[in-house]
Amino acid sequence: MSWLDAFKQLVYDYAGLLLDGTVAEQRLQQHLQQMQQQLGLDTEHLLKHLQQSRPELNNLISQLTVNETYFFREPEQINLFVQQVLPQLLSLAEKRPLRILSAGCSSGEEPYSLAMAILEAHGEQTLERIAIDAGDVDLNILAKAREAIYSAFSFRGMQDEIRNHYFSAEGQVYRLHEHIRTHVQFFPLNLKDADYPAERGLYDAVFFRNVSIYFDEHTRQNIQHRFNRIMQPEAVLFLGTAETMANDFGLFSLCESHGLYYFAKGTQLQPAAPERLAHSADNHSHARQRPATPAVSTPLPDLQLIRQLLHEERYDEAGSKLQLLLTAGQHKPEAQLMQAWLQLNKGDLAAAGRQLDSILQSDPWCLDALLARGLCSKWQADHNSAAKQFKTACYAHADSWLAHYFYGDILRLSNQPQIARGPLQVARRILSTSLEADTGCRWLPLAPAPQDALLLIERQLLGLKPGHMPHTEAET
Ligand SMILES: C[S@@+](CC[C@H](N)C(=O)[O-])C[C@H]1O[C@@H](n2cnc3c(N)ncnc32)[C@H](O)[C@@H]1O
Repeated sequence: MSWLDAFKQLVYDYAGLLLDGTVAEQRLQQHLQQMQQQLGLDTEHLLKHLQQSRPELNNLISQLTVNETYFFREPEQINLFVQQVLPQLLSLAEKRPLRILSAGCSSGEEPYSLAMAILEAHGEQTLERIAIDAGDVDLNILAKAREAIYSAFSFRGMQDEIRNHYFSAEGQVYRLHEHIRTHVQFFPLNLKDADYPAERGLYDAVFFRNVSIYFDEHTRQNIQHRFNRIMQPEAVLFLGTAETMANDFGLFSLCESHGLYYFAKGTQLQPAAPERLAHSADNHSHARQRPATPAVSTPLPDLQLIRQLLHEERYDEAGSKLQLLLTAGQHKPEAQLMQAWLQLNKGDLAAAGRQLDSILQSDPWCLDALLARGLCSKWQADHNSAAKQFKTACYAHADSWLAHYFYGDILRLSNQPQIARGPLQVARRILSTSLEADTGCRWLPLAPAPQDALLLIERQLLGLKPGHMPHTEAET
């Protein structure tokens, strides 16, 4: 076993994380080197130190976890749970309080979304009856979750109305109101531990979404057996939409409702009649207030400055400057493109879609517009249109790793793993040649960090192999 393998094994034994592929290994190596420098230890002594020092090992784990999450991620599932499954759970439990667990909760967006969705759909009394626990192995991210302060990027799947109702803006960030914040109890949870925190009691619903991608089948099976032990006799388990099939080990019944899946322990939780999904992606088309028209004499802002503001997620400042340009009729296509990005980030998908369609009518090969339009369709759950837009982007910009990555990813999500492999491999080849490779995008911050993208692509390609998971949700 090489020295690096020994560290990989330590991480696997402790948290179940698989560090396969060059990027994951490079990331591990980089953090180990930093630790060696800080602690003045050679590799052999560092390994011993990590084996003995839990805080130090936790620090390393925290560097290796992928914490990508956002509010109302996969909103159809949240609504299926809140509007269809939860009422059944409540009636089965009669007057007893219910308990929900978000396992692998990252910075808290998932459990807080559940609390908000329950309150919106069923009111205060029901929320009071439901305790929400949330755990993660990454102690640093748990501290962030408890703090409950978020940047605009966490709200890309959420309606403005809900955000404004539950958060207070503080400069560029948003602070969650105490009422929801204190409703979620965060605690350290290592899903690899044989002993789950049984003292916390049994759960009626477990959310384990977008976490299983980091584990091998053996670990995934073990985790499910442990969930079984901490679930009530009639309880449900939700995984990310694309993860569910790879986690069907026959332990729970697989239930389907309108193309959405979850697992049920027991026999009484059958899918009921369809309900309207209050936060579903295509429900984001409500009108927004336009900023007041600015004075004509104001000097026009520089396009590059606005671009920079977008990249720094300073959306309010970018928005008011864009409005000046649009009112003056200056730099129309670029200003419209950036405005569409603002709309996308506010969750106003319908308006963003219209804006991007109009840009593409006059410039059908504009890469920024094609990719943004593809993302917009994807977030509207229209995977066919998204695939078309990403495919066009690949033809028009064959050197763009981002176009190939988005195309491969949407094919993977659309259950076409065989076709997905090609574009994902192209994206990997371009990025492996140089992490500096140009995305081809000129205006919008569409790309994840190249290192993260390469890591995800490698995982996704591994997941397409027989015997591995067929597909998992993109981190975009
Ligand atoms: C991509 S986030 C998913 C967040 C959220 N569930 C969602 O769907 O948006 C994955 C989280 O799983 C956590 N995780 C990884 N290994 C874990 C383990 N062994 N025990 C508990 N959490 C773990 C990571 O720290 C990370 O925060």
